[in-house]
Amino acid sequence: MMEDKIAAIRAEIEENISSLELSAALYEFRKSFLDNKDGKISQLMKGMKDLPKEEKPAFGKLVNDLKTWAIDKFDEYNEKIKAKELEQKNKDEAIDVTMPGVKNEVGALHPDTMVIGELIDIFAGMGFEIYEGSEIENDYYNFTALNTPKDHPARDMQDTFYVSDDFLLRTQTSAGQIHVMENKKPPIKILSPGKVFRSDDDATHSPMFSQMEGLVVDRDISLADLQGMLDTFSERIFGEGIKTRLRPSYFPFTEPSVEVDVSCFACGGKGCKLCKGTGWIEVLGAGIVNRHVLENCGIDPDVYSGFAFGMGVERIAMLKYGINNIKALFESDTRFAEQFKN
Ligand code: PHE
Repeated sequence: MMEDKIAAIRAEIEENISSLELSAALYEFRKSFLDNKDGKISQLMKGMKDLPKEEKPAFGKLVNDLKTWAIDKFDEYNEKIKAKELEQKNKDEAIDVTMPGVKNEVGALHPDTMVIGELIDIFAGMGFEIYEGSEIENDYYNFTALNTPKDHPARDMQDTFYVSDDFLLRTQTSAGQIHVMENKKPPIKILSPGKVFRSDDDATHSPMFSQMEGLVVDRDISLADLQGMLDTFSERIFGEGIKTRLRPSYFPFTEPSVEVDVSCFACGGKGCKLCKGTGWIEVLGAGIVNRHVLENCGIDPDVYSGFAFGMGVERIAMLKYGINNIKALFESDTRFAEQFKN
């Protein structure tokens, strides 16, 4: 009976529709009834052609009613499911504006790097050119040409790492002075930053550290030129009003040699813990280039003269930033490095 088929389809839709949760499933379910070709309701329409002529109008109306009812039912459910799906989507994609953001960790420059950069700026401003020597040198450049022959007692001042009988890790950037003077005639004005190595290890000494070497060679260069340049340098690196003082010292490659102190930037010269009560802090070694060194490089010491200076970068960094153990500069502890972020 056709009426039974109609009732069965209605029942099938009513029984199953409420268990559908996804709009895609509802779409398929709907298609199984309303699809033009295979839909169960469409099939009913097609079956009408086998009915006796007088039954057709009544049956046609029943099928049409069923179709209208089914479409309404599907539409109503479709809206419900869509609303639910939207709610879920909104929930899933919700942004919690109170959630803490993801931090981008930014690194910091190492104090050595900052000091080297600052020194280069200061000296480049005074017309110095940068020369980077090599970390492996031979005995001649590191010692002999610097007026420090084999049995010279000054060699004991710098405990040396030898790579072979003749090659060594440079103990001082002064080795670069010789290379520069061999290759360039005066006027010479170079600044040479670099790592140096000595078998030395305590709170203020590390087997590897950095130096900054300066060399100026021209006619009529005197200790007064050195002092003038140092005054400018000290004020730029340690602050305005900082004074310098030269004390006699000894290096084989300079004559006279001096030790350079700056007035204590912590107490202004009155005397404190940093300057050990003296009001002065030693920052570098310097002097007038020894005439033997000029001669070794083919520069006539009766025509030209020069001054040289060398300072420890870590020492400057420790003074500037109040670091009391040189090891802190080489331990790669990020908590230490973080203090220098700016
Ligand atoms: N090379 C010396 C040192 O390492 C420093 C220095 C450089 C002194 C230049 C005088 C002139 O101790």
